[in-house]
Amino acid sequence: MDTPAAPASTYPPLNVQVHTPVLSLLGATDAMLERLVPIVRKGVATEPPWPFDDPMSLYQDSPNREWAWLRAMWAGRGRVNESFWRLYFVVVLDGEPIGMQDLIGVDFAAFRTVTTFSWLSPDARRRGLGREMRQAVLHLAFEGLGARRAESEAFFDNHASNRVSAALGYQPNGIAWATRHGDPADLNRWLLTREQWLASRRTDITLAGVPDCLPVLGIGS
Ligand SMILES: CC(C)(COP(=O)(O)OP(=O)(O)OC[C@H]1O[C@@H](n2cnc3c(N)ncnc32)[C@H](O)[C@@H]1OP(=O)(O)O)[C@@H](O)C(=O)NCCC(=O)NCCS
Repeated sequence: MDTPAAPASTYPPLNVQVHTPVLSLLGATDAMLERLVPIVRKGVATEPPWPFDDPMSLYQDSPNREWAWLRAMWAGRGRVNESFWRLYFVVVLDGEPIGMQDLIGVDFAAFRTVTTFSWLSPDARRRGLGREMRQAVLHLAFEGLGARRAESEAFFDNHASNRVSAALGYQPNGIAWATRHGDPADLNRWLLTREQWLASRRTDITLAGVPDCLPVLGIGS
């Protein structure tokens, strides 16, 4: 007997989906997060150069790592309002969860600006998937939510993240700094405008569940 499809959630952000010919971003339900736990338990960032700024659940030792990671997402879900929201997506390749791609809006009504956060299972890296999932979430931001700008930050020695931003047309936008494992380090800041995104906009990415999500994020039509 076929397994029935999981019912859509009562909470629209969990029903948002982005599909590319290669991978999908699916709303990070607890069931999806549970399927990611083995990767988190094994370790996402286990050696320098450290990719994430502090505080970061993924730097903790297991099992605190898994518990803190789940709490961070539960807290982020609970905090959604017009002035701050964060959409958490599980990256799915051939039916298997392999990482996360988040989209964050701060005072989105005024600035129409998003930032992104992502990670992939170490064994899924360097195959072009990081670029693919960033393009997917940018499609959601610009096409689905009407963003005008996307920003990104990556530590100066995070070559993969910096390369993804550069390859997708982001322009350098100064530097910032933050601590990682307690030590300060420079971050490259990147900016992609709507016009720059339109120049390489893809036509093979599809969105689902976006209209129902807009009111939850305080985005007017
Ligand atoms: C960042 C991340 C999601 C990128 O995904 P990825 O699948 O590894 O990246 P891609 O395969 O799409 O590669 C993108 C570019 O980076 C380059 N690249 C990837 N890993 C690299 C590395 N370790 N060193 C140098 N270049 C690298 C690729 O060659 C490619 O370059 P190109 O555009 O010139 O072809 C992934 O590396 C990751 O999870 N890193 C740890 C967490 C992290 O850094 N998150 C972001 C925090 S800001």
